[in-house]
Amino acid sequence: MSYDNHTQSKNAVLNIKPVTARIGAEIEDIRLSADLSPAEVAAIQNALLKYKVLFFRHQTHLDDAGQEAFARLFGELFAHPTVPKRSGTGSIFELDSTHGGRADAWHTDVTFIDAIPKISILRGVTIPETGGDTVWANTAAAYQDLPDGLKSLADHLWALHTNEYDYGAYHSKASEEDIRYHEEVFTSTIYETTHPVVAIHPETGERTLILGQFTKRLLGLSLSDSNHLYSLLQDRITKLENTVRWRWSAGDVVIWDNRATQHYAVNDYGQQKRVVRRVTLKGEVPISIDGQKSKMKKKEKAILDPAIFKTALS
Ligand SMILES: [Fe+2]
Repeated sequence: MSYDNHTQSKNAVLNIKPVTARIGAEIEDIRLSADLSPAEVAAIQNALLKYKVLFFRHQTHLDDAGQEAFARLFGELFAHPTVPKRSGTGSIFELDSTHGGRADAWHTDVTFIDAIPKISILRGVTIPETGGDTVWANTAAAYQDLPDGLKSLADHLWALHTNEYDYGAYHSKASEEDIRYHEEVFTSTIYETTHPVVAIHPETGERTLILGQFTKRLLGLSLSDSNHLYSLLQDRITKLENTVRWRWSAGDVVIWDNRATQHYAVNDYGQQKRVVRRVTLKGEVPISIDGQKSKMKKKEKAILDPAIFKTALS
């Protein structure tokens, strides 16, 4: 594919150290900022298409504004559709472990809307002494490794994605506060969108799998068949050999191609505080292998249960 050549020609610009042969590369000797040269930006973009996740250590000079300014080099900022942006920022989405920010379920960011963000840029702010790693999985490689029969089956499947799901059932260690936050903020507007299970990546042309936590069910199947088939495909994505795991330090920045990955924040740090801040970039509506676009089916303000509201105030 064309980006391979680009990446090779950019090796002179970037010091790229692949972390595994399948996903993830560390980029050394670079100071991320809005002042990067066009050649450096192009090299990062090309490396991202190839490795799917890029790790940058020691970016402690970046603050919220610096992170957003750097992100703008790669596209238009995307504000989360339900979670308020961090005050004083253009779009920053903060995950704070003390306020429901434990993303310990495999997902691609924001698949409950049609135009799934294309890139996420995450900065480590407060990192626990022990634990709190993030793991990413390559959804293009997972598709590529399916046997032909399963590829053909997946190629024509569609799935309904939503942000309205049983948070407590998904997150075994969820606190009452986490569950309340999910109900009151994360699902303050309820979205439902149908996506092809197999989409064509708009830049690489690779086939990728769109599944993960926000998948409610596969369309046209019984719930039982949907659950079985979902597990079969999702397990291929999250096979350990298809993943890369990052041990954070404060100041690390990780960039991932949200169209070709899922990720999981390991919830193994107890009551230690963990804060990471994300900037996400606008993406395009996914397209199936036969040219059909994803479709948003529902966007509805949720009506709060007064009992829940009362608990929140108490
Ligand atoms: Fe996420």
